[in-house]
Amino acid sequence: MGDARERLDRLLSRLGYGSRRDIARYVRQGKVEVAGGPARTGAMRVHPAEVRFDGTPLDHPDGLTVVYHKPVGSVCSHREQGRLIYEDFPPRWLRRRPVLASAGRLDKNTSGLLVLSDDGALNHRLTSPRHAVAKVYHARLARPLRGDEAERLASGRMVLAGEDKPCLPAGFRALGACAAEVTVYEGRYHLVRRLFAALGNHVVALQRIAIGGLRLDELDLVPGGWRVVAREWLWQRVNLHTRHHCHDADAADAGPSGAEG
Ligand code: URA
Repeated sequence: MGDARERLDRLLSRLGYGSRRDIARYVRQGKVEVAGGPARTGAMRVHPAEVRFDGTPLDHPDGLTVVYHKPVGSVCSHREQGRLIYEDFPPRWLRRRPVLASAGRLDKNTSGLLVLSDDGALNHRLTSPRHAVAKVYHARLARPLRGDEAERLASGRMVLAGEDKPCLPAGFRALGACAAEVTVYEGRYHLVRRLFAALGNHVVALQRIAIGGLRLDELDLVPGGWRVVAREWLWQRVNLHTRHHCHDADAADAGPSGAEG
């Protein structure tokens, strides 16, 4: 293992505590402690575990991965207009580097399970069709099912309006006359809504209920609620039903849903 020390001001700044100039001020004000004593300067080299800010250990210095129940009405973006999902998280997280980003997106009118992480490789594994992670949705429909949906979705021949490339085969299960579960293995703009449009129906409500073996109903999150989890725990849960050797592990940092700390 190499030396995991880094400059105090760089560490605090990449974790979103402020600019290097802010950190210099916090050091002068005595807000920052290292190994039980006041920090002398932002240039000192430190281990994250020995630093306290306002008497509190640092906010997830080894990376941040979150499971989140996206509510209807918020937008999966750092920049767009309207209510953004990031407003549900501590403001400091928005200043972190690398950035906390969602693994794929849910559209504004879709609710349900979303993973956010500052680990780009994890986000890629969750979203890349190569890894074939199942995304499971419950859809409420404007019109009754016709009976041919399962076959057409499984065919791998469905082409969405405005596209040439057929969609990957998708899973389908009727949940009622006007309700269905759909499982997709790729991410395309408004994919489930457009699949139903291609099937001659219209989605009136859509919720993502699972990502692989990670199920929203087992996470006990109210809409807008979130929980910090360990990356390894998350990846094991996602793969629970697609691989056979995974053990369950405990969530690393299970705070109350939607609340900091
Ligand atoms: N399909 C959609 O139509 N919307 C989503 O948010 C996700 C999949």
